[in-house]
Amino acid sequence: MRELKIFAIVAFFSLLTYYLVEPYAHHAMHMKVDKDGNEIKIESHGFTYDGTDDIAEAKRKGDDALVAKKEAFWSDVVVVSSMTGDTVAGEAVFANCLGCHSGANINMGGVVPPNLDHAGAIYDKNYLIALIKDPAMASNVDHKYADTSMHPMGSIKFTVTDNQQIADVVAYILEKKVGEVTAKEVFTEACVRCHAVRYAKMTQIGETPKFKHRKDALAHEIKVIEEQDRIKAYMGNLPPDLSMMIRARSSHFLETFVENPQSGLPGTSMPRVGLNQEGYEKVKEYLTEAGDPSKKAREELGPWVIGFFVIFTILAFLWKKSMWRDLH
Ligand code: HEC
Ligand code: HEC
Repeated sequence: MRELKIFAIVAFFSLLTYYLVEPYAHHAMHMKVDKDGNEIKIESHGFTYDGTDDIAEAKRKGDDALVAKKEAFWSDVVVVSSMTGDTVAGEAVFANCLGCHSGANINMGGVVPPNLDHAGAIYDKNYLIALIKDPAMASNVDHKYADTSMHPMGSIKFTVTDNQQIADVVAYILEKKVGEVTAKEVFTEACVRCHAVRYAKMTQIGETPKFKHRKDALAHEIKVIEEQDRIKAYMGNLPPDLSMMIRARSSHFLETFVENPQSGLPGTSMPRVGLNQEGYEKVKEYLTEAGDPSKKAREELGPWVIGFFVIFTILAFLWKKSMWRDLH
């Protein structure tokens, strides 16, 4: 009877912590407030990009000129989005992109421009339009530039100038969706130019190959360090290793952070990446796998372990029965 009472008390407090205290602490720790003390809700927009967050941020800063600029920019994106693009004309415009996005692993103004092989499958359409209109505005890092054409991709504003050209090239990119894209490909194209994942032997210049000679391994290491120095100069500091990120942060944080880094870390230099839902799911899959590489093996082992205990329990029971039979 006494044991039952103790159990009831322990169970009561565990449930109280689980259902009330923990969620409250979580909420309080993640709450953000504006300068007037009003709570700011960090919401996911389902990986669609229409400037809602950007305009709200400008309003919170109380900067009317910035609000007007952001509103004009995003409403122009909607205009281009409703235009019909010509994929043949778009292919010609796309030649402008390949000058930088050549796949040659050459750093340009701070990072290696990502490979665009799967861009049509992993980025949102409105985001691509916004990015070509003005990369700094699209990725919500315009506050870093007095003149947004100083962004490392900023010169695109002078080469792809009219809305029809933008509609054409985006139509071409979206049409080019090729087959199934793997989690690793998406992560490499979207995040690797800045982030390493030590657990997966991934650095800012790609996956580290196996070297036969120590000399080659060291030469490669120097290349990685030099690349990290260039990224540091561009971002202000080295972006963190993402090996453990999926465990350290909730998936709500990761989702809203990737959609708009400014929502999670106001003033951060990490640009918005503009992934669509599918692209984000792949990034999450990659990080989950990298953060816990033995998860799959563990899950496969689970039924065997349970089976072992079931058989063991039956054997123990039979053994006990036979022992007692002899004693009586
Ligand atoms: C002058 C070089 C240059 C040109 C031209 C250029 N880009 Fe980029 N692009 C970059 C760089 C550098 C980055 C990485 C910027 C960063 O991460 O801050 C980038 C990033 C991107 C990204 C990833 C953006 C994100 O936020 O995840 C996409 C998609 C992209 N470019 C598409 C294009 C397309 C489409 C064109 C042609 C219409 C183009 N780029 C032309 C240099 C260029
Ligand atoms: C152009 C460079 C760049 C790209 C591309 C980039 N990041 Fe980042 N990221 C940064 C920087 C810089 C920081 C550090 C931010 C800070 O401390 O202000 C950061 C920080 C983070 C953090 C840590 C946030 C925290 O709580 O401290 C996460 C998570 C993250 N990035 C995820 C991603 C994912 C996922 C992608 C790809 C979809 C990505 N990043 C692409 C530059 C980048």
